[in-house]
Amino acid sequence: MQIISSSTEITAISQKACSAQQRIGFVPTMGALHAGHISLVRAARAQSDIVMVSIFVNPLQFGPKEDFSKYPRALERDCALLAAEKVDYVFTPSVEEIYPQGASTWVTVEGITDRLDGRSRPDHFRGVSTVVAKLFHIVQPDLAFFGQKDAAQAAIIQKMVRDLNFDVRIVVCPIVREPDGLAMSSRNAYLDATQRKQATVLYRALMRVQTLADQGERDSGKLLAEGKQVIAEEPAVRLDYFEIVDRNTLEPVAETSGGALVAVAAYVGETRLIDNIVLPDPE
Ligand code: PAJ
Repeated sequence: MQIISSSTEITAISQKACSAQQRIGFVPTMGALHAGHISLVRAARAQSDIVMVSIFVNPLQFGPKEDFSKYPRALERDCALLAAEKVDYVFTPSVEEIYPQGASTWVTVEGITDRLDGRSRPDHFRGVSTVVAKLFHIVQPDLAFFGQKDAAQAAIIQKMVRDLNFDVRIVVCPIVREPDGLAMSSRNAYLDATQRKQATVLYRALMRVQTLADQGERDSGKLLAEGKQVIAEEPAVRLDYFEIVDRNTLEPVAETSGGALVAVAAYVGETRLIDNIVLPDPE
């Protein structure tokens, strides 16, 4: 496994692989890797000849009061995990490498980025789409792997790829959870033991919605009221949003037909956690 911090070097490797008809699978990450990230790496390993993983804590996607400076960084440990997964290349650029002085171009996906997390984290998604577009240009992957955990992000990247004719196939992989249901996240490391227990309320609320939907309830308003009730039973947890939306457009749906996305975000202490489920299509 090679660890490379130069964009031009990564592009050269990619172009060589392309000439040799090798398929490149790419997993963009911000590091502090856990089993969720590793599931994407395994999917990439299974579907590609060459696997590239990027580790870059992207300053552009953090708000001024967010956790950019304290975001967990564990490069050595991450690289050991990736080597064990037989990753071929790890791209670890510096901030200056990705954003040379004077860079002033953004990629903005409009409309969809104002919904869910985009509503509570203004400018977050334009930071994500800008860095992912740049990474796609540098890495030139055939396939790129994203987690359903960040459902809004996955929908936005798919839209960006369509809108801007990126020649890459986006593969969205299922959410990996802790045994008690908590979705794995690098930010779980911020939780103390009490908060860690409280955090399971997100999954419990989603399961309540799932159960009612399984019993035939289709009314989004009723399903959401029940889900919010579960969150309210954990007063230390502050709800940001609980919504049922179309999984592609992220627009609210009144009835849950057709694989609706049930998405929740909440603060446990200072830590903002997100989770979601996709309801099965009743047909
Ligand atoms: P990061 O939070 O490190 O996540 C990298 C990828 O891992 C994302 O596609 C995310 O959805 C996926 N992932 C995280 N937790 C997961 C879980 N429990 N199960 C399955 N997949 C999971 O998302 C980002 O980084 C950044 O926004 C990035 C796309 C790298 C752009 O900076």
